[in-house]
Amino acid sequence: MITKINSCGLRGMDGYIISVETSVSGGFPAWEIVGLPDAPVRESKERIRSAMNTAGYVVPGKRIVINLAPADVKKEGACLDLPITVGLLTASEQVFCGNLSKAMFLGELSLDGAVRGVDGVLPMVIKAYQSGMTEVYVPEANAEEAAVVEGVTVYGVKTLKQLSDHLTGRARIRPTTIDIKDIFGRAAAYSYDFSEVKGQENVKRAMEVAAAGGHNILLIGPPGSGKTMLAQRLPTILPDLTFDEALESTKIHSIAGMMPKGAPMILTRPFRSPHHTVSAVALSGGGSNPKPGEISLSHNGVLFLDELPEFRKDALEVMRQPLEDGVVTITRVQGSFSYPCNIMLVASMNPCPCGYHGDKKHDCTCTPKKIQHYLSKISGPLLDRIDLHIEVPAVEYDDLDSRVKPESSASIKERVNRARQIQTERFRGSGIYSNSGLTPAMCEKYCVLSREANSMLRAAFESMGMSGRAYNRVLKVARTIADLGGSERIEAEHIAEAIQYRSLDRKFWA
Ligand SMILES: Nc1ncnc2c1ncn2[C@@H]1O[C@H](COP(=O)(O)OP(=O)(O)O)[C@@H](O)[C@H]1O
Ligand SMILES: [Mg+2]
Repeated sequence: MITKINSCGLRGMDGYIISVETSVSGGFPAWEIVGLPDAPVRESKERIRSAMNTAGYVVPGKRIVINLAPADVKKEGACLDLPITVGLLTASEQVFCGNLSKAMFLGELSLDGAVRGVDGVLPMVIKAYQSGMTEVYVPEANAEEAAVVEGVTVYGVKTLKQLSDHLTGRARIRPTTIDIKDIFGRAAAYSYDFSEVKGQENVKRAMEVAAAGGHNILLIGPPGSGKTMLAQRLPTILPDLTFDEALESTKIHSIAGMMPKGAPMILTRPFRSPHHTVSAVALSGGGSNPKPGEISLSHNGVLFLDELPEFRKDALEVMRQPLEDGVVTITRVQGSFSYPCNIMLVASMNPCPCGYHGDKKHDCTCTPKKIQHYLSKISGPLLDRIDLHIEVPAVEYDDLDSRVKPESSASIKERVNRARQIQTERFRGSGIYSNSGLTPAMCEKYCVLSREANSMLRAAFESMGMSGRAYNRVLKVARTIADLGGSERIEAEHIAEAIQYRSLDRKFWA
């Protein structure tokens, strides 16, 4: 007998239907899996045999052929264990069940018949829904994640025995449902808050500007000045995730196998802080069995590169294009696909190898040559993609000792939200979402300067020896500052503040 069972594979961010065709016929006992299976799929035979025995079934001593269609795409991972097993059970007439043409099966089996969780369930269930399937059978560990998709019945499966009992009608599995509105409606909860950072008003203001315009930001200061502390708190002042953003971020985490335990969805803006030894592939994504990298895991959130000069040069270089485009493109023999990476980059660094160059209380022990070498590790083109550079001085004793409670993240976020609202309306239909995405041509249209602002920018341009790129970045940042101030026109005070966020260029990289 021949049966067809639906399952799913992943290509980039999207699922594609895999049809598992099983033929059990008389003849010399043999078992073949064809249709470009990779090693884990070929090895599934041993897992399936053992799991079937545990559940009280046998692999028939007949000629078994399993074809994974479409035949020209390489099938990866172990998530085909479950559909292959169901195919075998039905084709060998050990299990009689109703029509399975609108059902999809996903899951890995362990030797004792338990169904283990797999990666990428959300995009695969979305594909099931789009292809007109009405029910999906997924590992119980992934059931809530699958239930995010409305319109399909989700069965979380614990063991093969439980599944066969369900299919034959002996004991039905209760479908998994979640109240997505309720889960999504819960306010994003962060364990950090800006009110914990004392003093550092200038730096907090710069971070507010960065958050309001979606600008990348570089923090430079001595060890212990609070750079890491400040960066961690950036997500708390970004606007709440929209449902679509949350869905995209969840998809990426699901594909990467990085879903937090017990959470059906990513509800807060991601904050990723890879160690500086991270490889280029781990940062940007790819590999032989392609997975999203850190830059995509940070999609819709913050990628924090702590101690920027310590990162490998090749790792930083591969980030340049994705930073610009908001997507990582991965090319394979079978074609290319992409992972989104719409992120805010926050980088931190010491001003020199010892960390105290320019510090008021410590002497720097580095030679100018060493400092030069240290700074030169960061390439100009990467620096060019960071709109705000800000110095984080060591915190003052009076600030630490102060009883004044600093402003909370919630109250900063209100201003950020207002500024973002202005941008959303301004850029509607133009393909960009925040001031950080302004192209030079758009700057001309959207950044209208008052006369004083104009002459101030001209003077700074001459005296600071600004490049054309630097000029554009000052304009973009000034646009954000004006938006925060609710001003349509860019005034001198906005330009003055924006110029200040570029002064480090001159101090350190002159
Ligand atoms: N402005 C500040 N207010 C409160 N605590 C601070 C402040 N700056 C630094 N700290 C304390 O110092 C610690 C070290 O800061 P950290 O962010 O690791 O510094 P850096 O990354 O610049 O080396 C923080 O965990 C925090 O406890
Ligand atoms: Mg640090």
